This record gives sequence, structure tokens and C-alpha cells, in this order.
Amino acid sequence: IARNFSSSSAVQAAIKNVTVIGGGLMGSGIAQVSAQAGQNVILVDLSSDVLAKSQKSIGANLGRVAKKVYKDKPQEGEKFVSESMARIKTSTDPAEAAKSADLIVEAIVENMSVKHKLFTQLDGVAPNHTIFASNTSSLSINEICSVVKRKDRFGGLHFFNPVPVMRLLEVVRGAETSDATYKSMMEWGKAVGKTCITCKDTPGFVVNRLLVPYICEAVRLFERGDASARDIDTAMKLGAGYPMGPLELADYVGLDTNKFILDGWHKKYPDQPLFNPIPLLDKLVAEGKLGVKTGEGFYKYDKK
Ligand code: NAI
Repeated sequence: IARNFSSSSAVQAAIKNVTVIGGGLMGSGIAQVSAQAGQNVILVDLSSDVLAKSQKSIGANLGRVAKKVYKDKPQEGEKFVSESMARIKTSTDPAEAAKSADLIVEAIVENMSVKHKLFTQLDGVAPNHTIFASNTSSLSINEICSVVKRKDRFGGLHFFNPVPVMRLLEVVRGAETSDATYKSMMEWGKAVGKTCITCKDTPGFVVNRLLVPYICEAVRLFERGDASARDIDTAMKLGAGYPMGPLELADYVGLDTNKFILDGWHKKYPDQPLFNPIPLLDKLVAEGKLGVKTGEGFYKYDKK
């Protein structure tokens, strides 16, 4: 009897067990959409306080989803919430949580050496078939995966904030991502309710490569005194049909995050003028004016 032992032609089973590492803003959203879609989830963070907070916010978010989806059937809504919540386990031990994973999505701090340390550890303990993915916004997938042996089973899964609301998922193919891994990532993305697009491992992928320079140009325009913040935002909303203006968006994303991404790209691509530092952005960040989260950026906000 002929048996096919070639791993490249083997059909990979669909992903059912996902371990999400990093229980912050993005990780908790990724855990939520996965559990909502019927996946078994382990959410991992260094801090059990973070995990407790994440579980609470996931519960509240699921409650809102249930109210909308099961408007006239509150009992079914409750069932949806409790069943989704029951699919999410939490852990402070990445190695243990890796053992049962078909897919590991990393959403920890945006720091290459911390990511390298984590993936080196995971590579030693995760099953052979487990796919590794990073949710990084600004680091290179090829560089992150340089420390693991399973380079063919590694890629980028880049979600958008807030994860349960934003419909896009960028699926990033690294230089060595295999076709089977790519296919599994695309299928999983669809299964958790996202519309997937594919991109090569390039700075900012598609969305941020276009959005960050756009926001930066708006900051430069404002810095030159060419128009007021309000008028720049009104212009892009009413003249280009954008739901938010670029400076409002910068405040929402966080001016520190914008600066962090810009500085990283500038260091890597010093000849690209679009990535040049912006004195006004540096000044606002130095003054602690980071946008909505600190109560002031380009605009002032009521602190929650
Ligand atoms: P966050 O600061 O809210 O959450 C990060 C979490 O990771 C923290 O709770 C921290 O305790 C935990 N952590 C740090 N090191 C860890 C380790 N070694 N093991 C386990 N847990 C660890 O950050 P956020 O915003 O959720 O970002 C996470 C990742 O997602 C970053 O790579 C970022 O670039 C990316 N991202 C962020 C977006 C955003 O809008 N904030 C959008 C898309 C991607």
C-alpha cells in the first residue's frame, strides 16, 4: 500500500486550539474573536492581574455583541457569552500553554529581543505542527522568525484595534512561510470572522505603510501652520470621505505609538524622507501629550 510521508503534501488539519501570548489590548481582542468563533483559547500574560482585567473586558464585550446579535433572544445571548467565555483559559506559563496549540499568536511588547526570547522558548516546546504567528505592527516577520527552526511554519497575523470591530486581517508571508502554513493562516482568519488580505514582509505591511506616512504628513502640515488641526480633520472627513481625520486618528492610536513606528522605520531606512522625524511629534510625546489616553494630544479630552 502506497503511503505518502511527504509533509509538504500532507493536508494540515484545521486549527482548533489557539494560544494567544500577551493579554493586553490586542491579545485580549484576538482571544475574544477566536473564542466567539468556537476556538479553544489559552490567553497568556506575564501578569495575572492583566489576565483578570482581560477576562473582565472580554466578558463585557461579549455581552455587547450578544445584545446586538441576540436582540430578541436574551437566553441565547447569555448562552453565547458563557460558552465563549468557557472556551478561554488563562495562563502565566507560555511553555505550558504552547503544548496543546495548533496556532500560537504572539501579541506581546513591540521589542525584538523580547520576541526572540519568547519564540526561542516556544520553538523548543510546541508540537511540530504548531504554526507561530506574530501580530507585530512594525517589526520584520523574517527577523522575528530568525531564531526558530520552524521558519516554514511562521508568519504574520496583523489585527487592527479594536480587534472585535475591525474587519481586516493582514496575513503576512515571510520569506520562508510555506504554502500550507499560509493556507492555514488564511483559513483561520476567515474562521474567526475576518476578511484577509495577503502581504509580503515589508515595513508597515499595507495599512500602516500607507496610514503612518499619511498621518505624518498631516502633522507636518499642521506644524508648518498651513491649516488648523480641526480644519485638517474636517477636510479629510468631508473631502476624502474618511471616517476620522488624520490628527484625530493620531490621538486615538497614541502619539507615542506613531513616534515609535516612525523612529524605527527612520533608523532602518534613513534615506526615505517620508519616515523623517517630526519635531512637533517629538515635542508632544516628550510633554506626555500622547492623545486620548492621556487626555491631550492634538486635541483635549475628558479623562475617563
Ligand atoms: P499591550 O501593552 O496592551 O499588551 C502587551 C501585553 O504583553 C502586556 O499585557 C504585557 O504584560 C504582555 N507581555 C509582555 N512581555 C510578555 C512575555 N514575554 N510573555 C507574555 N506576555 C508578555 O500592547 P498591545 O497594544 O496589545 O500590542 C501588542 C502587540 O500587538 C505589539 O507587537 C504591537 O505592535 C501589536 N499591535 C498593536 C496594535 C495597537 O493598535 N495597539 C495594532 C496591531 C498590532
